[in-house]
This record gives sequence, structure tokens and C-alpha cells, in this order.
Amino acid sequence: KRRHSSESEPEEESSSSDEEKEEQKPEIEKFSGSDSNTAEKPEEGVKVAEMDQQPAGPSVPVHQPASSKLPCKPAVFIPVDRSPEIQEARLKLPILAEEQVIMEAINENPIVIICGETGSGKTTQVPQFLYEAGYASSDGTIGITEPRRVAAVSMSQRVAKEMNLSNRVVSYQIRYEGNVTDETQIKFMTDGVLLKEIQKDFLLSKYKVVIIDEAHERSMYTDILIGLLSRIVPLREKKGLPLKLIIMSATLRVEDFTNNKKLFSVTPPVIQVDARQFPVTVHFNKKTPLDDYSGECFRKVCKIHRMLPSGGILVFLTGQAEVHSLCRRLRKAFPFQKTNTAGGDDDKEESVEEMRKFKKSRRQKKVMALPKIDLDNYSVVPVDEGDEDRDAETDDDMAGSDIDLDLGDGDSEEDEKSDSSLPLYVLPLYSLLAPEKQAKVFRLPPPGTRLCVVATNVAETSLTIPGIKYVVDCGKVKKRFYDKITGVSSFRITWISQASANQRAGRAGRTEPGHCYRLYSSAVFMDFEKFSAPEITKRPVEDLILQMKALNIEKVINFPFPTPPPTEALAAAEELLIALGALKEPPMTGRLKQQLAAKLSCPISPLGRIMATFPVAPRYAKMLALSRQHDCLPYTITIVSAMTVRELFEELDRPAVSEEEAAELKGKKARFLQMQRIWAGQGPMQKLGDLMVMLGAVGACEYAGCTRKFCEGNGLRYKAMLEIRRLRGQLTTAVNSVCTDAGLFVDPKMKPPTEAQATYLRQIVLAGLGDHVARRIQAEELLDDKWKNAYKTALLEDPVFIHPSSVLFKQLPEFVVYQEIVETTKLYMKGVSAVEPEWIPALLPPYCHFGKPLENPPPSYCPETGRVRCHRPSVFHRVSWQLPAVEVD
Ligand code: CDP
Ligand code: MG
Repeated sequence: KRRHSSESEPEEESSSSDEEKEEQKPEIEKFSGSDSNTAEKPEEGVKVAEMDQQPAGPSVPVHQPASSKLPCKPAVFIPVDRSPEIQEARLKLPILAEEQVIMEAINENPIVIICGETGSGKTTQVPQFLYEAGYASSDGTIGITEPRRVAAVSMSQRVAKEMNLSNRVVSYQIRYEGNVTDETQIKFMTDGVLLKEIQKDFLLSKYKVVIIDEAHERSMYTDILIGLLSRIVPLREKKGLPLKLIIMSATLRVEDFTNNKKLFSVTPPVIQVDARQFPVTVHFNKKTPLDDYSGECFRKVCKIHRMLPSGGILVFLTGQAEVHSLCRRLRKAFPFQKTNTAGGDDDKEESVEEMRKFKKSRRQKKVMALPKIDLDNYSVVPVDEGDEDRDAETDDDMAGSDIDLDLGDGDSEEDEKSDSSLPLYVLPLYSLLAPEKQAKVFRLPPPGTRLCVVATNVAETSLTIPGIKYVVDCGKVKKRFYDKITGVSSFRITWISQASANQRAGRAGRTEPGHCYRLYSSAVFMDFEKFSAPEITKRPVEDLILQMKALNIEKVINFPFPTPPPTEALAAAEELLIALGALKEPPMTGRLKQQLAAKLSCPISPLGRIMATFPVAPRYAKMLALSRQHDCLPYTITIVSAMTVRELFEELDRPAVSEEEAAELKGKKARFLQMQRIWAGQGPMQKLGDLMVMLGAVGACEYAGCTRKFCEGNGLRYKAMLEIRRLRGQLTTAVNSVCTDAGLFVDPKMKPPTEAQATYLRQIVLAGLGDHVARRIQAEELLDDKWKNAYKTALLEDPVFIHPSSVLFKQLPEFVVYQEIVETTKLYMKGVSAVEPEWIPALLPPYCHFGKPLENPPPSYCPETGRVRCHRPSVFHRVSWQLPAVEVD
């Protein structure tokens, strides 16, 4: 019931019966070795405690010879009724020539790796080979995982069309939607969806074949799936229900999968599909533009379109907003007369229509919502009328600065008005684009036009667009980065890797020789990393460990990762999860070494299971899990969203370029401080500190309809506010799907919390951010002037201070909890709330030490008062607070 989520619903109906599941358990427990904990069996899922053992051992041959005993061996040939055009297009794909080799390898081996250049036909054809060979049946599906939703949806549609089957048979399932039915035989899904299915049915009994596609992307879930499947495949074999695993990858490093004895005891065969790749001429820019790569893309497309022979253009940008903005600009420059039904302008019309509807609904809401909300609690600013989302694009100057001259005479005056007679058929392409619009890129452009697709990274390997002859590569990609201290993630735009740059260039040579224009210099290219590192090695792993524990994989450290994360990262994650109560703490008996080992294999707790269902970092998940009480959920959702989107507030202390600007900034600052005081509230509200300011700012902003004008007038960053709104919507949906009776509304407007709720919220935040507690060094404890007004934190030896921008900057409460520490001239805490000392032992027992004072206390300890100590009892960063006489029962 707890894991009631939409993506797993279809499985529930068709999953094996309870008796079957019962029957599976003993088998798996045998594999997991003698397990003293079997009595404490979790209610769902099966127990797989020891992922370190090679389950089958040397006695079970993993490499099976072709044998008629194998139930997986196809007995029949299932005919497929393809249209002549489809058949003709298929025959041109390089992978068709390898069908026999591939199918023989699959028949004879439980695990096969297929490598082939993007566009060679892996994703669309391998499922069809398997289907024709009888691998799909009423009791077994062919499952294909994709790291991107866009690929899961569009590939299922493509394969259904090629096979002339309905989407009841060839279906997809992504996080919140899908069209899977009882008849489904080929199922495309995201890797996250399959991982959730493993949580319900470890043996994946309803699949005959699992294909892990795009393995070269090394997404975290793909890596975990490969690790898990390396164990599931031999287990299924032992049960006499073999499962085939096929790993498909672009031609990039496969050694992590093949040279890895921990992963596969027998190296799986690698089948290389030859690429039919035409030569691509690469042109570098002489200089690398600093910021305006989007403008540079525009200029380059204009030049290509005017000067070069026919052939499609593919532009790589980093995000949806950029893609749309360039599309608009190009459509304006090269108007496309809508003489054809397959017009390119319907996007625009639709968005006008959407905007009209949105405005209308907002007007209605305003009228209805007014009496419910106490305006004074959030805002003194009048609600602003009729403001709308202005187009973020600025019409920057069009001078073609330092374009390389490969495109002709280097005339530098570009004009938005083009004299080209050939219309440009401009299409956007990104992950979240509606599937029917995505599908347009695969169709022929209207006659007499040139196709120009403006895409994000999805076009790099997941999708192959026909007819592309020119690639324009901005060299950047939007990537998620993780803050080392807080683990909070954010998206940043960075340079791509050399491997990615070459993939992008390759998109130009699919059908004939092509050209790739790189908007950066060859010197910059040489500085790119060769490959981007697997995601799993670059991020904190608390959330991953929690997900794995939810799968009952206890000894995470022994899990067969294709590339393991650093051991310290694993240990730190486990320690944090124990402290949060997501894992059951091991008994503190035995030698230190045994204790440490026990700490690295703790089972998940019931709280941990709930936390694992929320799509946020565990600290925040704990806050959400506690917030059902006292109706705090809407506030916690807002606080968590606001903390995830960083830099809510405009930088008003920046140096001004003119006197007018200085005066403007000064005025804005005064106004912002006034607003900040109002948003922080009074009394108990105020103690929630910066988090109350965040709540107040979001509340006021939503009340005003979240307009740019309101934000700019009050020192809020408009983009951040829109992002918070989006995240709140997503989290509300996620919470509603976990607690189906919570019935939270997705309406962004909310009432201010009551004083009691503000106090509960402080406790909730303390419970989630427990390792971020800090205590102010009192005057009588001062040993050194550098500790004046300073706080001692659990994680750092050095003094830290409340950031001057905090509403608690002057108040200096004794105990605070902070969101993050930033280092400028000093170490500063941001996102600060006050907490009461007596809450700490009650809410954070793992952080409290109820013993005698330490023999060798660190310098900040004062023997006279005996009030605070921080020490590190082990390799883990743990703190012990010794509190002044607090009654704890
Ligand atoms: O997976 P891989 O990159 O090896 O190739 P694929 O995605 O199976 O694509 C094979 C061919 O099918 C490409 O040439 C695509 O252009 C074409 N295709 C298409 O025409 N329409 C789609 N919706 C998907 C693929
Ligand atoms: Mg593919």
C-alpha cells in the first residue's frame, strides 16, 4: 500500500500469484547464505542479503551451450506483417546483416553485449528479431530500458509501426504514464521503472528477455540494473526459467562490463555491428564565444542555410528554453509559408492558445481565491494586474563576430530578414516535448523546404533523425551537479566530453558525407575530458543506497557495480541514513572492526521504506515523511522545493555600473529588507528564520500570480520562482501517490502556517537536517577572538557564522540548524532556523552523547560549563552534544 505508485500498477495485475512468490523465497534465501535476520522478513520483496557471492558458483555453467532443453530457445518463427516501405528501410540498416549472428549468440548465451554506432538499428530492430524468434509469449515479455523517457515513448511507437502491431502489444511505461496492457509483448520503459519492478518481483518473472539500451550513457539506474541483473540471470537459470540479458551500447568503452569478473563470472560475448558512417568534416571556430552560444548557433544556421547545398541541419543546445528561443528566431528569419498540412508553426499557435487559457483561468482564480487568503501575512504589495511572462529572449546584436570562414566570404552583417528563397522547416526536440511533436522529426520535411532540428542532448545518441547533413554543436550540455556539503543538486551548463562531441559530429554522416560546425576552438576541444565519468562516481549516494536497501540489498559495499562509487562515499551515506533512522542501527557490541562492518550492512527500517518512495534526497524525504502531522505537508513541500532551487533572491549587493543603478539597487535593497521582515513573521514564526522567509516569499509570489513584475519588484528571482512552482507540483503528485488519502491540492496558493505549525516545522527541519546543527559559542566559553559570535558545527573544526543575509543574523540563537555552508571571507551558514536545545535529544538521539565529558575535549570545550563538545568517534563524521541539564525520559 505504501508503495502505491502509478508506474507499477500495470504489473500488479499481471504479476505472479502469491503462491508463486512464496515458492520463490526459499530458493533465494539459500543463495543469500545463512541469514540470522530472516525472522524479520520485510513484508514485500525477497531477501537478497549477500550480493557479494557469485550466486551460482563455479558448479553452474553460466555459458550455456545451445540446447533444446532451454525453454528460452525459440521453437517457432512468428511472422510479422511489415509494409514494403518499412521492409525496404529496414534492409538498409547495418544491423540486419548481423541478425543471424546476434540471434545465435542470444540463443547460446544468457548475457550478450551488442555494440553499434548510433543509428545502426539496435533499438528498433533487436526487439523485432527476438519477437520473430518467439521470445515473447503470453507468459513472458521482452523488456527494453532506456535512460530517457523520450526514447522509451518514441521507440515503442516506432517498433509498433514497423511491426504493424497495435500499442496494446508494443507498449511503453514511463514514470507517470504508459499504455501497457495484458497483451503487451514488447515493453519499452525507463530504467527507473524496471528498478521499481525489481523491488516488487526480484526475479522479474514476467520477462523472458531484458534489454538494457544506451548502456554507454552510464546513468546511475542503468549501472544498478546491470549489477542486479548480473545476479538475477543466474538465479533464473537455476530455477529453470532462463532470462536473457542483452546490453546495448554505442561504440564506446565496454570494458567496464566485459573486464569485470565481479560483475559477470563468464565474460559475455560482444557483438560489434559495423557502422555505415560517411565521412564528416569537422570545422572548429577560431575563437570560443563566452556566453552567447545560442546567438552563435543562430548565425551559423543562417550561413549554412544560405550558402550550402541542401541537407538537414541539426543544432545541439542545452535546454528547452534555449531550444524554443532559437526556433522562434529562426522561424522569424526564414518564414515558413504554411501551404502544407505538416506545418511547422502549430507549436506557436498552440502556445498562444495555451497562454490565452492560462490567463483566463488566472483571472477566474484571482476572483475566487481572494477571500480565503490573509493578504497581510505575506505581502503589502498590491497585486499586479495583467502582467505576463515576457519572452526572455533579448534581441542581441546580430554582428557575426568571429565565425570561421569555412562558410564563405566572412561577411559579418547578418540580418534577421533573410533573402533565402528556400523556407526553413524548424522543429524543436527535447525530452519533455509531447510525443506527437517529437515524432515530426522522423517524417520527411515538406517538399521545397530544408529541415532544421534544434535539439538538446537527446539527439546525441537516443534518437536518429533522418537526412541530417550539417551539425551545429555548441559544445555544452546541461548536467546535474551535486554540492559536496549539502548534497543538494542543481543543473549547470558545462562543456561536453570529447566522446560526446564526436557522437554529435557523427549525426551528420548517416546518409551521405556531412559537416559538423563546432562553436568552439580546437584548443578548447583538446581540454575536454575524454569521456564523462559514470554518474555514480560523481554524486552523493545516500539516495541510491536508500533505494538499494529498499531492494533488501544490505551489503551495498559488495554490490557488483560496473564502476563502484568511492568507499568513503558509501560509508558516509550509510552513516547518514542510520542517523536519519532510515536504516536500523546495528548493535554496538563486539570489536570496533565488527561494529564498522555491521554499520556497512544495515537493513532498511519502516521509515526508510517510506522515505525511499519520495523523489528527493533522504534528508528532505525524512522531512516529508514526518509532515503528515499537523497538516504541515504543503509547507514542507514548499520548503523542500525552495531549498532545492537555489538562489531565490536577487543579488542586490552587486557593484553598480552607474549612479542611477546604485540608487536603484539601494532602493530595492531597502524594499527587500522590508519584505524580508514581513515574510519572516513575528514570534514563533520568526524563529523558523530563513525558511519562514522562503515560505513567505513563495506564498506572496503565488498570491500575486507569480509574475515577473512582482518578483523584480521584491528582490526575487523570477526563474527560481517558476522552478519552485514546478517542483511543488511534482512533489505534491508524488506525495499524493504515496499517501492516497492525503488529498493535497496542486493549487500553488497556500495559507500561511499557524504559529503552532511554524514550531512543528522547525522540529521537522531539525529532524531532517540533524547533521547540520550548530551551537553558538557563549561569551564565557570564548577561548579566542575568532570564535566571537561564531558557531560550532558537527562537521567542521573551524568557526562558522550566520550569513549577513539571514534574518537571524542579529539574533544569534544558541542552537540553529542550517541548510548549507558557503565559504567566502569566512564560513557562513545559509538557510538558518533556530531550534530549542531540548528538542535535540528527543529528535536526534543518534547525535547525542549522554555520558561523562571526554578526556581530551577539543579546544571549543569549556570545562567550567561543560556545555558542548564535538568529537569524531570513528571514521564517520559524527557529533556528540552534551547538553546542559535537560530532562529526558
Ligand atoms: O538504436 P540505434 O541508434 O542503433 O538505431 P535505431 O534507433 O534503432 O534507429 C534505426 C533507424 O530507424 C534510424 O535510421 C532512424 O532514423 C530510424 N527511425 C525512424 O525512422 N523513426 C523512428 N521513430 C525511430 C527510428
Ligand atoms: Mg538506440
